[in-house]
Amino acid sequence: MTIREIATTPFPGQKPGTSGLRKKVRQFKEPHYLENFVQCIFDGVGDMEGATLVLGGDGRYYNREAVQIILKMAAANGVTKMVVGQNGILSTPAASCLIRKLEAKGGIILSASHNPGGPNYDFGIKYNADNGGPAPETITDAIYALTQKISQYRILDATDIDLSEIGEVSLGGMRVEIVDPVREYRRLMKELFDFKKIKKLFKDGFRLRFDAMHAVTGPYSTDILERKLGAPKGTVINAEPLEDFGGHHPDPNPVHARELFDIMFSDDAPDMGAASDGDGDRNIILGRGMYVAPSDSLAVLAANAHLAPGYKDGLAGVARSMPTSGAVDRVAAEVGMPCFETPTGWKYFGNLLDAGKVSLCGEESAGTGSDHVREKDGLWAVLMWLNILAERQESIAEIMRAHWRTYGRNFYSRHDYEAVDSDAANKLMDDLRAKLPTLTGQTFEGETVTSADDFSYTDPVDGSVTSKQGIRIQFESGARLVYRLSGTGTEGATLRVYLERYEANPANHELETQVALQSIITIADQLAEIGKRTGRVEPDVIS
Ligand code: G1P
Ligand code: ZN
Repeated sequence: MTIREIATTPFPGQKPGTSGLRKKVRQFKEPHYLENFVQCIFDGVGDMEGATLVLGGDGRYYNREAVQIILKMAAANGVTKMVVGQNGILSTPAASCLIRKLEAKGGIILSASHNPGGPNYDFGIKYNADNGGPAPETITDAIYALTQKISQYRILDATDIDLSEIGEVSLGGMRVEIVDPVREYRRLMKELFDFKKIKKLFKDGFRLRFDAMHAVTGPYSTDILERKLGAPKGTVINAEPLEDFGGHHPDPNPVHARELFDIMFSDDAPDMGAASDGDGDRNIILGRGMYVAPSDSLAVLAANAHLAPGYKDGLAGVARSMPTSGAVDRVAAEVGMPCFETPTGWKYFGNLLDAGKVSLCGEESAGTGSDHVREKDGLWAVLMWLNILAERQESIAEIMRAHWRTYGRNFYSRHDYEAVDSDAANKLMDDLRAKLPTLTGQTFEGETVTSADDFSYTDPVDGSVTSKQGIRIQFESGARLVYRLSGTGTEGATLRVYLERYEANPANHELETQVALQSIITIADQLAEIGKRTGRVEPDVIS
């Protein structure tokens, strides 16, 4: 087998965002496009001799081809060993788990997360470092710089290898170990949670619906929930992973997980509903007739984590992304543990987790996780909830209501305006930014602004500064309004408006969320002229 050196030229715009490089499949299929980026990963990370890398993806369209290309390039770049999930499959948290378990140098994960899949949709690739988490900016910047001057890449001239059988094969001078994608992950979950108690919960008749959305958690949830924990067959719905996710967006929100929401709000609703996304790192939780806002879920997990064996000694601290509601802050204050506010994106939690400053973290966008891996983890959150439910023997609605009575309720919602004209969206943000210095002290709809800024974060571990992370407007009542442009979309711009209002009085805790937030919604449009500038009468997605 010979190594070929192929001449190439740079593609502009191969800048990895918060979740790696995410583009349309047809872009990735252009000659040399994927290869360029992969070569720059190897060169940007450096020292591949002796290295073990982990490789796998969420199984979306182009996963199979990309895995073969990456293996041949790894062999040509001197990688010693590649550990690949069977059939090229690994959920994002399982990849993080494997990198840590094997003490690998890093890993390459193929996914566009919750974005749709198929020939006309999205694909993505990202590099995770030796801590199992998304590569820090130093590495992604180095990779990007190389993509702008690449002139050749190396690839082994070889036939595809069969990834369907677990075992070891060689490719050129490189060893390829094909592993069960679930095994190590399941082991880790068994260490953290009381499988016996959860098993008993199911035995006593507890009913769960887990919607795998035809994505990567299908095999993980079927194995763990149905086979190991004894949940009845059919607990996992849409369990078979499909390259196009059955034509749906594998995004667990009220729009795309409609089927699950309908089940949970029906007369025959089971005790708990849950769903994960394309690559298995997100989660949503529903009770009978109740959706648990992810920000609330994070707060409940923080308040109850000690009920699970892996967290019985309590938490070192918690962290949330800036747009996530302040519900978890109230738990941290009560317990007397630190609470950090980070920019959007899981990578900002990495340093805090590595330094042992926090053990639990989460984002409003359906992401929760802990120091067990360095990615958010959908199925982990479901198991954590199950462990808490098994201990408390109360319904999800009872747990939520008790939580609000203790801490008050942070009503919360996110309004997304998708595929907005990029110039209009940037102008909206720029004009808002220009207004910020004048807002403090002004009153809108009875709400007085106490501060207004563009969020900037100084990492408490390495001192690095990340600025322009979203516009925050804080009100005297505890309400808050945040505007941000998405960093993960592939079409135009997505404007996200995050709305929050604190309510201490239990008499008002049963209000419908959008009703409770009405004044903040009105202010959001007044200040940014969203309707006028985007031409939209309402958000595309309300979550
Ligand atoms: C979105 C979420 C963010 C999450 C990211 C990756 O990013 O809002 O919380 O970390 O996906 O899953 P955004 O599109 O807002 O930049
Ligand atoms: Zn994801």
